[in-house]
Amino acid sequence: MKLLEGKVAVITGAARGIGKAIALKFASEGADIAFTDLAIDENGKATEQEIAALGVRAKGYASNAANFEEAHSVVAEIVKDFGRIDILVNNAGITRDGLMMRMTEQQWDMVINVNLKSAFNFIHAVTPIMMKQKGGSIINMASVVGVSGNAGQCNYSASKAGMIGLAKSIAKELGSRGVRANAIAPGFIITDMTAALSDEVKAEWAKQIPLRRGGTPEDVANVATFLASDLSSYVTGQVIHCCGGMNM
Ligand SMILES: NC(=O)c1ccc[n+]([C@@H]2O[C@H](COP(=O)([O-])OP(=O)(O)OC[C@H]3O[C@@H](n4cnc5c(N)ncnc54)[C@H](O)[C@@H]3O)[C@@H](O)[C@H]2O)c1
Repeated sequence: MKLLEGKVAVITGAARGIGKAIALKFASEGADIAFTDLAIDENGKATEQEIAALGVRAKGYASNAANFEEAHSVVAEIVKDFGRIDILVNNAGITRDGLMMRMTEQQWDMVINVNLKSAFNFIHAVTPIMMKQKGGSIINMASVVGVSGNAGQCNYSASKAGMIGLAKSIAKELGSRGVRANAIAPGFIITDMTAALSDEVKAEWAKQIPLRRGGTPEDVANVATFLASDLSSYVTGQVIHCCGGMNM
Protein backbone atom coordinates (compact mmCIF):
# COMPACT_ATOMS: atom_id res chain seq x y z
CA MET A 1 0.00 0.00 0.00
CA LYS A 2 1.38 3.39 -1.01
CA LEU A 3 1.59 6.14 1.63
CA LEU A 4 -1.05 8.44 0.10
CA GLU A 5 -3.30 5.93 -1.67
CA GLY A 6 -6.91 7.17 -1.90
CA LYS A 7 -6.06 10.73 -0.84
CA VAL A 8 -6.67 13.92 -2.82
CA ALA A 9 -4.03 16.65 -2.51
CA VAL A 10 -4.31 20.33 -3.41
CA ILE A 11 -1.00 22.12 -3.97
CA THR A 12 -0.82 25.84 -4.77
CA GLY A 13 1.79 27.30 -7.12
CA ALA A 14 2.86 23.88 -8.34
CA ALA A 15 3.50 24.30 -12.07
CA ARG A 16 7.23 24.30 -11.27
CA GLY A 17 9.81 24.23 -8.49
CA ILE A 18 9.15 22.86 -5.01
CA GLY A 19 5.38 22.63 -5.59
CA LYS A 20 5.88 20.50 -8.69
CA ALA A 21 8.32 18.20 -6.87
CA ILE A 22 5.74 17.77 -4.09
CA ALA A 23 3.01 16.99 -6.63
CA LEU A 24 5.19 14.34 -8.30
CA LYS A 25 6.23 12.75 -5.00
CA PHE A 26 2.65 12.68 -3.69
CA ALA A 27 1.52 11.14 -6.99
CA SER A 28 4.23 8.48 -6.78
CA GLU A 29 2.74 7.64 -3.37
CA GLY A 30 -0.72 7.24 -4.91
CA ALA A 31 -2.43 10.60 -4.27
CA ASP A 32 -4.66 12.27 -6.85
CA ILE A 33 -3.37 15.77 -7.52
CA ALA A 34 -5.16 19.09 -8.02
CA PHE A 35 -2.66 21.89 -8.39
CA THR A 36 -2.97 25.60 -9.00
CA ASP A 37 -0.78 28.26 -10.56
CA LEU A 38 -1.27 31.75 -11.94
CA ALA A 39 -1.68 30.25 -15.42
CA ILE A 40 -1.75 26.70 -16.68
CA ASP A 41 0.32 27.36 -19.79
CA GLU A 42 2.51 24.93 -21.73
CA ASN A 43 4.66 24.43 -18.65
CA GLY A 44 1.64 23.77 -16.43
CA LYS A 45 0.16 21.35 -18.97
CA ALA A 46 3.49 19.48 -19.09
CA THR A 47 3.45 19.26 -15.27
CA GLU A 48 -0.11 17.93 -15.40
CA GLN A 49 0.98 15.24 -17.88
CA GLU A 50 4.07 14.28 -15.85
CA ILE A 51 1.90 13.78 -12.76
CA ALA A 52 -0.79 11.82 -14.66
CA ALA A 53 1.94 9.55 -16.11
CA LEU A 54 2.41 8.23 -12.56
CA GLY A 55 -1.06 6.65 -12.80
CA VAL A 56 -3.11 9.10 -10.73
CA ARG A 57 -5.69 11.76 -11.57
CA ALA A 58 -4.08 15.15 -12.15
CA LYS A 59 -5.50 18.54 -13.01
CA GLY A 60 -3.99 22.02 -13.07
CA TYR A 61 -6.19 25.05 -12.32
CA ALA A 62 -5.36 28.64 -13.24
CA SER A 63 -5.98 30.63 -10.08
CA ASN A 64 -4.40 33.53 -8.22
CA ALA A 65 -3.92 32.16 -4.72
CA ALA A 66 -3.79 35.68 -3.28
CA ASN A 67 -7.38 36.35 -4.34
CA PHE A 68 -9.99 35.24 -1.76
CA GLU A 69 -12.83 34.67 -4.25
CA GLU A 70 -10.62 32.82 -6.74
CA ALA A 71 -9.28 30.53 -4.01
CA HIS A 72 -12.81 29.70 -2.85
CA SER A 73 -14.10 29.07 -6.36
CA VAL A 74 -11.14 26.87 -7.31
CA VAL A 75 -11.57 24.79 -4.15
CA ALA A 76 -15.27 24.34 -5.02
CA GLU A 77 -14.28 23.27 -8.54
CA ILE A 78 -11.72 20.79 -7.18
CA VAL A 79 -14.29 19.23 -4.85
CA LYS A 80 -16.67 18.91 -7.81
CA ASP A 81 -13.92 17.23 -9.88
CA PHE A 82 -12.25 15.07 -7.21
CA GLY A 83 -14.98 14.57 -4.56
CA ARG A 84 -12.83 15.36 -1.51
CA ILE A 85 -9.68 17.12 -0.24
CA ASP A 86 -7.39 15.37 2.24
CA ILE A 87 -4.17 17.36 1.90
CA LEU A 88 -3.57 21.07 1.31
CA VAL A 89 -0.08 22.40 0.62
CA ASN A 90 0.10 26.20 0.70
CA ASN A 91 3.19 26.52 -1.48
CA ALA A 92 2.65 29.54 -3.78
CA GLY A 93 5.23 32.18 -2.99
CA ILE A 94 7.27 35.07 -4.36
CA THR A 95 10.10 37.38 -3.32
CA ARG A 96 10.32 41.15 -3.78
CA ASP A 97 13.51 41.81 -1.83
CA GLY A 98 14.79 45.19 -0.64
CA LEU A 99 16.08 46.92 2.44
CA MET A 100 13.41 48.52 4.64
CA MET A 101 14.72 51.98 3.71
CA ARG A 102 13.84 51.34 0.07
CA MET A 103 10.94 48.92 0.33
CA THR A 104 7.78 50.14 -1.35
CA GLU A 105 4.28 49.57 -0.06
CA GLN A 106 3.62 47.57 -3.21
CA GLN A 107 6.56 45.21 -2.54
CA TRP A 108 5.29 44.68 1.00
CA ASP A 109 1.65 44.10 0.01
CA MET A 110 2.45 41.76 -2.88
CA VAL A 111 4.60 39.45 -0.80
CA ILE A 112 2.21 39.38 2.16
CA ASN A 113 -0.75 38.73 -0.14
CA VAL A 114 0.84 35.99 -2.27
CA ASN A 115 2.80 34.26 0.51
CA LEU A 116 0.50 34.59 3.54
CA LYS A 117 -2.99 35.74 2.61
CA SER A 118 -3.10 32.94 0.02
CA ALA A 119 -2.74 30.38 2.81
CA PHE A 120 -5.58 32.02 4.74
CA ASN A 121 -7.69 31.94 1.56
CA PHE A 122 -7.14 28.23 0.95
CA ILE A 123 -7.34 27.11 4.58
CA HIS A 124 -10.57 29.12 4.93
CA ALA A 125 -11.99 27.32 1.89
CA VAL A 126 -10.95 23.76 2.87
CA THR A 127 -11.76 23.99 6.61
CA PRO A 128 -15.47 23.06 6.30
CA ILE A 129 -14.54 20.23 3.92
CA MET A 130 -11.87 18.74 6.19
CA MET A 131 -14.06 19.20 9.29
CA LYS A 132 -16.87 17.29 7.58
CA GLN A 133 -14.43 14.55 6.58
CA LYS A 134 -13.06 14.54 10.14
CA GLY A 135 -9.49 14.64 8.91
CA GLY A 136 -6.91 16.37 6.82
CA SER A 137 -3.33 17.54 6.68
CA ILE A 138 -2.45 21.16 5.98
CA ILE A 139 1.14 22.07 5.16
CA ASN A 140 2.32 25.69 5.02
CA MET A 141 5.52 26.40 3.10
CA ALA A 142 7.47 28.73 5.38
CA SER A 143 11.23 29.38 5.27
CA VAL A 144 14.20 29.43 7.62
CA VAL A 145 14.11 33.22 7.35
CA GLY A 146 10.62 33.17 8.88
CA VAL A 147 12.36 31.96 12.03
CA SER A 148 15.71 33.73 11.82
CA GLY A 149 14.86 36.91 9.85
CA ASN A 150 16.99 38.15 6.96
CA ALA A 151 18.28 41.59 6.05
CA GLY A 152 16.72 42.69 2.77
CA GLN A 153 13.73 40.39 3.17
CA CYS A 154 11.54 42.02 5.85
CA ASN A 155 8.41 41.42 3.77
CA TYR A 156 9.29 37.81 2.90
CA SER A 157 10.47 36.93 6.44
CA ALA A 158 7.31 38.43 7.96
CA SER A 159 5.12 36.46 5.53
CA LYS A 160 6.94 33.22 6.38
CA ALA A 161 6.80 33.86 10.14
CA GLY A 162 3.07 34.39 9.55
CA MET A 163 2.84 30.99 7.84
CA ILE A 164 4.25 29.40 10.99
CA GLY A 165 1.84 31.24 13.34
CA LEU A 166 -1.05 30.40 11.02
CA ALA A 167 -0.18 26.67 10.98
CA LYS A 168 0.14 26.56 14.77
CA SER A 169 -3.20 28.34 15.30
CA ILE A 170 -4.99 26.03 12.85
CA ALA A 171 -3.41 23.04 14.60
CA LYS A 172 -4.98 24.26 17.86
CA GLU A 173 -8.35 25.11 16.30
CA LEU A 174 -8.84 21.97 14.25
CA GLY A 175 -6.89 19.28 16.14
CA SER A 176 -10.04 17.99 17.85
CA ARG A 177 -11.54 17.50 14.36
CA GLY A 178 -8.66 15.31 13.22
CA VAL A 179 -7.13 18.02 11.06
CA ARG A 180 -3.37 18.53 11.43
CA ALA A 181 -1.42 21.63 10.35
CA ASN A 182 2.35 21.96 10.14
CA ALA A 183 4.94 24.14 8.44
CA ILE A 184 8.09 23.33 6.50
CA ALA A 185 10.98 25.78 6.71
CA PRO A 186 13.24 25.15 3.71
CA GLY A 187 16.69 26.70 3.61
CA PHE A 188 18.53 27.33 0.37
CA ILE A 189 16.74 25.22 -2.27
CA ILE A 190 17.86 25.20 -5.90
CA THR A 191 14.88 26.43 -7.95
CA ASP A 192 14.00 29.33 -10.28
CA MET A 193 13.44 31.44 -7.15
CA THR A 194 17.10 31.15 -6.11
CA ALA A 195 18.59 30.92 -9.63
CA ALA A 196 18.68 34.71 -9.86
CA LEU A 197 21.15 35.00 -6.95
CA SER A 198 24.79 35.74 -7.83
CA ASP A 199 27.51 33.06 -7.47
CA GLU A 200 29.03 35.06 -4.58
CA VAL A 201 25.74 35.04 -2.67
CA LYS A 202 25.30 31.31 -3.34
CA ALA A 203 28.86 30.58 -2.13
CA GLU A 204 28.18 32.62 1.02
CA TRP A 205 25.02 30.60 1.70
CA ALA A 206 26.83 27.29 1.15
CA LYS A 207 29.37 28.19 3.87
CA GLN A 208 26.52 28.41 6.39
CA ILE A 209 25.17 24.94 5.52
CA PRO A 210 26.65 22.04 7.53
CA LEU A 211 25.70 19.57 4.77
CA ARG A 212 27.60 21.86 2.33
CA ARG A 213 25.05 21.84 -0.49
CA GLY A 214 21.90 23.57 -1.55
CA GLY A 215 18.74 21.52 -1.14
CA THR A 216 16.74 20.06 -4.01
CA PRO A 217 12.97 20.43 -4.44
CA GLU A 218 12.86 16.66 -3.84
CA ASP A 219 14.45 17.12 -0.38
CA VAL A 220 11.49 19.34 0.53
CA ALA A 221 8.98 17.01 -1.15
CA ASN A 222 10.14 14.14 1.08
CA VAL A 223 9.36 16.16 4.22
CA ALA A 224 5.99 17.19 2.76
CA THR A 225 5.17 13.53 2.07
CA PHE A 226 5.88 12.63 5.70
CA LEU A 227 3.61 15.47 6.91
CA ALA A 228 0.86 14.62 4.41
CA SER A 229 0.82 10.94 5.27
CA ASP A 230 -0.34 8.98 8.30
CA LEU A 231 3.34 8.48 9.22
CA SER A 232 2.98 11.87 10.95
CA SER A 233 -0.39 11.07 12.56
CA TYR A 234 0.76 12.46 15.95
CA VAL A 235 2.56 15.51 14.56
CA THR A 236 0.75 18.85 14.45
CA GLY A 237 1.64 22.50 15.00
CA GLN A 238 5.30 21.83 14.19
CA VAL A 239 7.89 23.47 11.99
CA ILE A 240 10.23 21.07 10.23
CA HIS A 241 13.40 22.71 8.99
CA CYS A 242 14.67 21.29 5.71
CA CYS A 243 17.88 23.25 5.35
CA GLY A 244 20.95 21.02 5.60
CA GLY A 245 21.39 22.22 9.17
CA MET A 246 21.65 25.91 8.22
CA ASN A 247 19.13 26.76 10.98
CA MET A 248 19.16 24.80 14.22
N1 LIG B 1 13.71 28.08 -3.25
C1 LIG B 1 14.03 28.29 -1.99
O1 LIG B 1 15.22 28.38 -1.61
C2 LIG B 1 12.96 28.42 -0.94
C3 LIG B 1 13.36 28.49 0.40
C4 LIG B 1 12.40 28.60 1.39
C5 LIG B 1 11.06 28.64 1.04
N2 LIG B 1 10.69 28.57 -0.26
C6 LIG B 1 9.25 28.63 -0.54
O2 LIG B 1 8.85 27.51 -1.28
C7 LIG B 1 7.74 27.85 -2.14
C8 LIG B 1 8.05 27.45 -3.57
O3 LIG B 1 9.23 28.14 -3.97
P1 LIG B 1 10.03 27.78 -5.32
O4 LIG B 1 11.47 27.96 -5.00
O5 LIG B 1 9.54 26.50 -5.88
O6 LIG B 1 9.58 29.03 -6.21
P2 LIG B 1 9.26 29.13 -7.78
O7 LIG B 1 9.31 30.58 -8.07
O8 LIG B 1 10.14 28.21 -8.55
O9 LIG B 1 7.76 28.59 -7.87
C9 LIG B 1 6.70 29.28 -7.29
C10 LIG B 1 5.43 28.97 -8.05
O10 LIG B 1 4.36 29.71 -7.45
C11 LIG B 1 3.59 30.29 -8.49
N3 LIG B 1 2.88 31.49 -8.02
C12 LIG B 1 3.41 32.72 -7.77
N4 LIG B 1 2.45 33.57 -7.40
C13 LIG B 1 1.29 32.86 -7.41
C14 LIG B 1 -0.07 33.18 -7.09
N5 LIG B 1 -0.42 34.42 -6.74
N6 LIG B 1 -1.00 32.21 -7.21
C15 LIG B 1 -0.66 30.96 -7.58
N7 LIG B 1 0.60 30.60 -7.88
C16 LIG B 1 1.56 31.54 -7.79
C17 LIG B 1 4.61 30.62 -9.58
O11 LIG B 1 3.98 30.84 -10.83
C18 LIG B 1 5.50 29.39 -9.52
O12 LIG B 1 5.01 28.35 -10.34
C19 LIG B 1 7.53 29.36 -1.95
O13 LIG B 1 6.52 29.59 -0.99
C20 LIG B 1 8.87 29.83 -1.41
O14 LIG B 1 8.75 31.01 -0.67
C21 LIG B 1 11.60 28.46 -1.27
